[in-house]
Amino acid sequence: MTTLLEVSGISVTFDGFRAINNLSIQIAEPELRAVIGPNGAGKTTFMDIVTGKTRPDEGRVIWGEKSVSLLGMSESQIARAGIGRKFQKPTVFETQTVRENLAMALHNKRGPFDVLFYRRSKAAAARVAELAEEIGLLDALSRRAGELSHGQKQWLEIGMLLAQDPRLLLVDEPAAGMTPAEREHTTDILKRAAETRAVVVIEHDMEFVRRLGCKVTVLHEGSVLAEGSLDHVTRNQQVIDVYLGR
Ligand SMILES: Nc1ncnc2c1ncn2[C@@H]1O[C@H](COP(=O)(O)OP(=O)(O)O)[C@@H](O)[C@H]1O
Ligand SMILES: [Mg+2]
Repeated sequence: MTTLLEVSGISVTFDGFRAINNLSIQIAEPELRAVIGPNGAGKTTFMDIVTGKTRPDEGRVIWGEKSVSLLGMSESQIARAGIGRKFQKPTVFETQTVRENLAMALHNKRGPFDVLFYRRSKAAAARVAELAEEIGLLDALSRRAGELSHGQKQWLEIGMLLAQDPRLLLVDEPAAGMTPAEREHTTDILKRAAETRAVVVIEHDMEFVRRLGCKVTVLHEGSVLAEGSLDHVTRNQQVIDVYLGR
């Protein structure tokens, strides 16, 4: 395992309020990491900084074996560098089928020169089927995305992100609004995706985090309060005081 993303000493102030305070986090490749912490801890802002949506006032964000700084890059440059992000609300094309949604995401990745090749090729169809299998929607390939359940839409969007083959996938509260069975399936998808890439998941549902079975980072007031296995961090008295015990 080598370090893929190194965030060190970042701080962000919004109108005088320090949302991120000297935060340092390292993510390896491959790795599955859960980020937990109370509302307002800075979890989403952390993802905003990594994806270039928010600029930190200080600190460094270093990416890949060439140790490139992400801070000078635009959001689209960061996405092209291999960082994919899943927002809370699914943004699939409702009138298109699951197959079409996945194929479009694949074409976006290939760029204009490969579009014709990929549109017709068996390789593209095989990759679409592989992605559908990975997200558990193989039987739903011909269904319109608008007909899918909330959970299935979330999986489709994860599949569309995986089609871009990111080295780092950032996922913000995927389990919200899902049934228990959907949550279980979502942990399976994320665990599998993290076998070959880095996946960072923000989640409140402790059962979900336990199923992920990965290293956990607890954020509080914009800094890391504790880090380690779920058992390790949930025994931490400060974590109990600010998060678990409430
Ligand atoms: N664009 C923004 N402008 C002003 N305040 C913000 C902005 N984004 C986040 N904040 C504030 O920063 C803090 C951290 O927010 P956030 O990262 O969304 O927390 P979390 O995702 O852990 O719940 C909150 O107090 C929030 O109100
Ligand atoms: Mg948030």
